[in-house]
Amino acid sequence: MSPAPLSIAIGCDDAGTDYKAALGAHLAARGHKVVDVGVAPGAHTPYPDIAAAAARGVAAGTADRALLICGTGLGMAIAANKVLGVRAVTAHDVYSVERSILSNNAQVLCLGARSVGLELARRLLDAWLAVRFDPASPSAAKVARIAALEGALAGGSGRT
Ligand code: RB5
Repeated sequence: MSPAPLSIAIGCDDAGTDYKAALGAHLAARGHKVVDVGVAPGAHTPYPDIAAAAARGVAAGTADRALLICGTGLGMAIAANKVLGVRAVTAHDVYSVERSILSNNAQVLCLGARSVGLELARRLLDAWLAVRFDPASPSAAKVARIAALEGALAGGSGRT
């Protein structure tokens, strides 16, 4: 049985508009709800603003996950990780993509439109969609320690 459909925020900067459209269609074709947070083709919103919009949606619970695309996938991850409670990774191989969920409960995957071909990106997304974090797994305690660290740094209680 396939895991339940997800609500996925998707965003890119101007390096990835065509790529985002193709991958958004791929997610929708797999039965997931896709919420586009920009940019529109021809727009030039800097990638940190798009990362923040998507990551805030994840932190607020309006999206289960986010897919963020820039030239490298690096700046998007750096920016998304500034939002409290968000764990964003750049991962370009199937094993790391799977482990970003299973080990790290990372809600945000960032891809580089200039470094990963579209067909490989589709395969990475299929691997990403197939897995769910298990809160009863040994990884949960480690993720909780990330949240505790974040909470301590932010002066709050942290979230998982
Ligand atoms: C272009 O703005 C490029 O810097 C951006 O797409 C991304 O690769 C940053 O990490």
